[in-house]
Amino acid sequence: MAAKVYIIIYTMYHHIYKLALEVQKGLEASGVEAKIFQVPETLSEELLEKLHAPPKPDVPVITVDDLKEADGFLFGIPTRFGTMPAQIKSFLDATGGLWSSGALAGKFAGTFFSTASQHGGQETTAFTTVTYFAHHGIIYVPFGFANAHLFDNSEVIGGSAYGAGTVTNGDGSRQPSEKELEIAQTQGKNFGNVIKTYKAGSGN
Ligand SMILES: Cc1cc2nc3c(=O)[nH]c(=O)nc-3n(C[C@H](O)[C@H](O)[C@H](O)COP(=O)(O)O)c2cc1C
Repeated sequence: MAAKVYIIIYTMYHHIYKLALEVQKGLEASGVEAKIFQVPETLSEELLEKLHAPPKPDVPVITVDDLKEADGFLFGIPTRFGTMPAQIKSFLDATGGLWSSGALAGKFAGTFFSTASQHGGQETTAFTTVTYFAHHGIIYVPFGFANAHLFDNSEVIGGSAYGAGTVTNGDGSRQPSEKELEIAQTQGKNFGNVIKTYKAGSGN
């Protein structure tokens, strides 16, 4: 049976969604099944309208029980004050039942990011998310510098050893660049390969 990876995102202005589509392509290229989900929204329609949020992407809303089905998760996280947004925190905070039964232990997780600023906290967002994985016994898979664009200082390029990333500008006007999209695809492919290797070794 093919390994299954859920890409779990929150996205208000679709930058994370655009990266998620590339991550999905990379996962599929590695031969694993990949599905995109979004976490439940916690803001009212009225507030979203005031924030000029476009309609949500057409992907299903995940429930905590869905997590049991997947071998791994790639979380797409748009940074808020250097850490994850409340929408993702609220979703993860609802996984206490899964934690108490150890249901997610031994599964894999990775992270990718979006920030307004180049120095807006993509790496601190990773650090502050990893605690959830540690408590669940989920194995965190860093990206490393697995795509050469991460060494390129000639232009703004989001992402780090902790995962792909994009830089949006404060008004959201910057879209993910070709290099950022390519990095996201590499991350999906590498993550898929890690899971496939593990499954082949464990005979599961
Ligand atoms: C309340 C709030 C806090 C934010 N905090 C940060 C931050 O700490 N650093 C940063 O670079 N961008 C910050 N941003 C910008 C978001 O990270 C940016 O809008 C998001 O990455 C866009 O992703 P999306 O298009 O997928 O929603 C913040 C945005 C909001 C609304």
